[in-house]
Amino acid sequence: MTKSHGITMLGSGLIGLFYTMTLHGQRKRDQVKVIYSRDQARAQKFAKEWDIPKATTDLAQAINAAQTDCVVIGLPNHLHEEAVTLAAQAGKAVLCTKPLGRNAAEAQRMLAAVEKAGVFHGYLEDLVYTPKTLKAIQAVQQGALGEVLWVRSRETHPGPHSAWFWDEQQAGGGAMIDMGCHCVEIVRSFVGKNIKPVEVMCWADTLVHPIEAEDHGIGLIKFANGAMGQFEVSWAFRGGMDLRDEVAGTQGTIWLNHFLRTGFEMFTLPQKREGYVAEKAETDSGWLFPVGDEVHELGYVHMFAEMFEAWDKNQAPMESFYDGYVVNAILDACYKSARTKLWEPVQLEDWRGATNVEKIKAPTQEYQGHALIKRERMPDGTTKYIFKDKKTGEIRSEVK
Ligand SMILES: NC(=O)c1ccc[n+]([C@@H]2O[C@H](COP(=O)([O-])OP(=O)(O)OC[C@H]3O[C@@H](n4cnc5c(N)ncnc54)[C@H](O)[C@@H]3O)[C@@H](O)[C@H]2O)c1
Repeated sequence: MTKSHGITMLGSGLIGLFYTMTLHGQRKRDQVKVIYSRDQARAQKFAKEWDIPKATTDLAQAINAAQTDCVVIGLPNHLHEEAVTLAAQAGKAVLCTKPLGRNAAEAQRMLAAVEKAGVFHGYLEDLVYTPKTLKAIQAVQQGALGEVLWVRSRETHPGPHSAWFWDEQQAGGGAMIDMGCHCVEIVRSFVGKNIKPVEVMCWADTLVHPIEAEDHGIGLIKFANGAMGQFEVSWAFRGGMDLRDEVAGTQGTIWLNHFLRTGFEMFTLPQKREGYVAEKAETDSGWLFPVGDEVHELGYVHMFAEMFEAWDKNQAPMESFYDGYVVNAILDACYKSARTKLWEPVQLEDWRGATNVEKIKAPTQEYQGHALIKRERMPDGTTKYIFKDKKTGEIRSEVK
């Protein structure tokens, strides 16, 4: 029998809107029944627009409402823990947006709360659920790229849309906690979530805005098998929202572009209108890169479908609070490395993946009894073989 769920949506801001659009747009059987916002007028307006029966400014009342069995958290980062604690106490399923915590200690307490209460929990990391990413992860898992060596993930835009993001205390950091969390989980998904992140090296700085938090960051994440993750984030990128990933393997490569080039390019002369093009687009004239269906392109549709299907089948979803905790632990190490300028270990008090992982080793090919390093077809039609002499260690080449 098909199950349906009643949802309490916490937050009527940008993400509350995207989540509600998704839930009421596709899999209509799961409905938002209660909307919580700080401001009653906003809550009521949101409820009217999305046909939600109850609007409230009382957090506990929203979470405990009898008509819902699931709480979706779309509140600023500093409010996630309180909301998770109340939802776990209410015995409800809880789905929390990214980042799970402002740091690993907060995330670990949230993980403990849901596990102790025995409630279903999901980490709403939409960017590993984009249709492209799901297919790319599947291809990697099927061996299409051989061994994954290096994953690069980039999220940059001109800066967030609400004051709290810019306040280090409320957000837990700047661009790295806000967007690096997406990149880190994308990297883990391609390297393999079973492979332990071991240490990080990171640069972070405040280059543009009058804030304490960083508006730029670049991090390297070394995994137990030698694979390297790389993230780059900026709150000062001009030209929209740039979401790109690259996966390099011994047998292949994947390039993904999620937002600025989705196959939809439009030119329009300046007109007397203020048109919405796509999230964080900076202009509505000239050459534009609109996004057909943002909630779809950004993974929200597949994310909620997978979460609710997993819950209905009594299984863990692809992204759980444990994943959110690992992401926070990696970012904690990044913040430390940015200060110390050293490689810093990722402190994972709770590691549930593989131990004793071997270093990546691609099989070597033979060339006339030697170890082939490179074979290349040259412009003059010859083929060059570069190889290492197995006896002497000398590197030589032959042209054929
Ligand atoms: N792709 C994504 O997954 C994605 C995208 C955007 C935001 N987020 C996350 O969603 C959460 C909310 O972000 P947003 O963009 O919707 O923010 P927002 O500022 O647009 O909305 C925040 C909501 O929380 C409420 N709120 C703000 N401060 C509050 C306070 N002190 N007390 C009670 N309520 C308060 C606001 O009234 C609003 O309803 C953050 O954790 C953010 O990281 C995720």
